[in-house]
Amino acid sequence: MKTPLQLLDAFKAHFGTGASVYRAPGRVNLIGEHTDYNDGFVLPAAIEFYCWAAAAPRRDGRLIIYSENFNETVEAALDSLSPLEKKHWANYPLGVAWALRQAGKPLTGANIYIAGDIPFGAGLSSSAAVEVATGFALLGQSGLAVDRSELAQLCQKAENEFVGAHVGIMDQFISCFGRASHALLLDCRSFQHEFVKIPTDLQLVICNTMVKHELASSEYNARRAECEEGIRILRKAFPEIRALRDVSLSQLDEHRRNLPPRVFARCRHVITENARVQNAVEAFRREDRQALGQLMRDSHRSLRDDYEVSCKELDLMAEIAAAQPGLIGARMTGGGFGGCTINLVECAAVSDFRRKVAAAYFSKTGLTPEIFVSPASGSAQQIAVLENKPAG
Ligand code: GLA
Repeated sequence: MKTPLQLLDAFKAHFGTGASVYRAPGRVNLIGEHTDYNDGFVLPAAIEFYCWAAAAPRRDGRLIIYSENFNETVEAALDSLSPLEKKHWANYPLGVAWALRQAGKPLTGANIYIAGDIPFGAGLSSSAAVEVATGFALLGQSGLAVDRSELAQLCQKAENEFVGAHVGIMDQFISCFGRASHALLLDCRSFQHEFVKIPTDLQLVICNTMVKHELASSEYNARRAECEEGIRILRKAFPEIRALRDVSLSQLDEHRRNLPPRVFARCRHVITENARVQNAVEAFRREDRQALGQLMRDSHRSLRDDYEVSCKELDLMAEIAAAQPGLIGARMTGGGFGGCTINLVECAAVSDFRRKVAAAYFSKTGLTPEIFVSPASGSAQQIAVLENKPAG
């Protein structure tokens, strides 16, 4: 990755002027998977992998956005923004401009240079980081203040309505609110949140399976629809419930016969996962590592068996990790169908852990996994860059 100064140089070479620099982090989720769009609880942490955006204002109401990762420039007029073809990288930044304007923000045009080091397609939220970094850049260049909670919601709206991916709020929120050395307990209904300290002798180790199954986005939307079906059926008996967040396990059991077995299992995952998030926060506070490890294992099993969003590579990666000394807990993280596991590992054991997990995974799959170690990082922000002025 470039330093902020190199990014400024790259901007200047591309657009011919100086710029302001912003960055937004990716994330891992410690526990609380597929709960955010059910008004539930999540416990993500921002990581030290970022999307960077260098930006300068334009007076002609146009956006010119260059992606270093894709080596491509896209141009658009702010007053006629519409999505490019499906899966185009520029739909994320253009969608944010669209959502900000929908919210009545008087944006000026901008030149934006985007560069990131969050691996794509690994489930570490490179898309949310692009959205949030662009949001900061657009608001900053237009002289508008950033309300982080509003920005997270507008970035989600951009992804839901402009990009067409029906994601929840977790990724955008943690990118806007991450705090160094902490995970964030978020109530995805009220947006109330609190920080949970990650013990200093533990590291977040992220193991990339190096696979991303094509199913990911269609199955994601299918899971959402199954949760909604569960709610529709359960509401006949409990008209007060608004989301799976409001349903207890005993209410679900009581109405098991009314639910298709698959929908029952999806609902059971969400309800038990919400409880696991609360219990994990308690376990962090009590420093009860055994309980934490068990909760992470249970979460993985529930995602594998009830929610059916794991895959053999994720199961294998979690299983290999479980056999290593110094492991507190391991589970798949993010939407599933490939991507990464999150492992909480004692610092002293991390280098052996990396080596042994990589070797074992390679011997079973022929794939060399990327294994990242990252402290929990801070939130999206503007970065002050001091340019080196030549002496004299
Ligand atoms: C993706 C989505 C999030 C969340 C997770 C699953 O990362 O972007 O909103 O639903 O999947 O927990």
